Amino acid sequence: MHRHAPPAPPSRRPEATAQVMEATGLDGPMIERLVHGFYGKVRVDDLLGPVFAARIRDWGPHLEKMVAFWHSVALMTGTYEGAPMPAHVTLPVGWEHYQRWLALFRETAEETCPPGGAAHVIERSERIARSLFMATEDFRRMQDAAPLLRAAN
Ligand code: HEM
Repeated sequence: MHRHAPPAPPSRRPEATAQVMEATGLDGPMIERLVHGFYGKVRVDDLLGPVFAARIRDWGPHLEKMVAFWHSVALMTGTYEGAPMPAHVTLPVGWEHYQRWLALFRETAEETCPPGGAAHVIERSERIARSLFMATEDFRRMQDAAPLLRAAN
């Protein structure tokens, strides 16, 4: 399945990337296995599967984007330039969805990466999940407040 994997995107910070790879045991093909393995679990998960199925028609481009994202986050390559917040604040999810997401990510990371590499990506996934969820809560509070603010004018 990974025999024809595209070449890893080049790093814009080659020294930092080399250092992280050395310290964690992570590399491009491992990130690709992590992302593909993880979304394979997500797609068949009873809680998360339907949320993704409602938004993603074509998994090819999504997986490519997520590989670039994890390259950037885990290996400091600067290869992802998207904006994750807007994609998440309107999702019909609560903290329990994020907990499931994190549990599946942790499980896949531990299966796919050496312990130091798994710890590296798990720590980042937890930090990003918290910030996405806090942004979602802020967004909901703003929406609740909007009619009141309009009425006051
Ligand atoms: C309950 C948990 C989550 C759900 C249900 C979820 C769902 C989704 C969906 C449906 C999309 C596609 C949006 C679209 O293209 O319309 C997406 C995009 C994305 N997600 Fe998540 N996500 C979750 C958690 C996370 C976490 C924890 C991370 C990072 C650690 C993450 C990173 C991303 C990124 C980078 C994109 C691509 C954004 C872009 O550039 O378009 N997601 N997510």
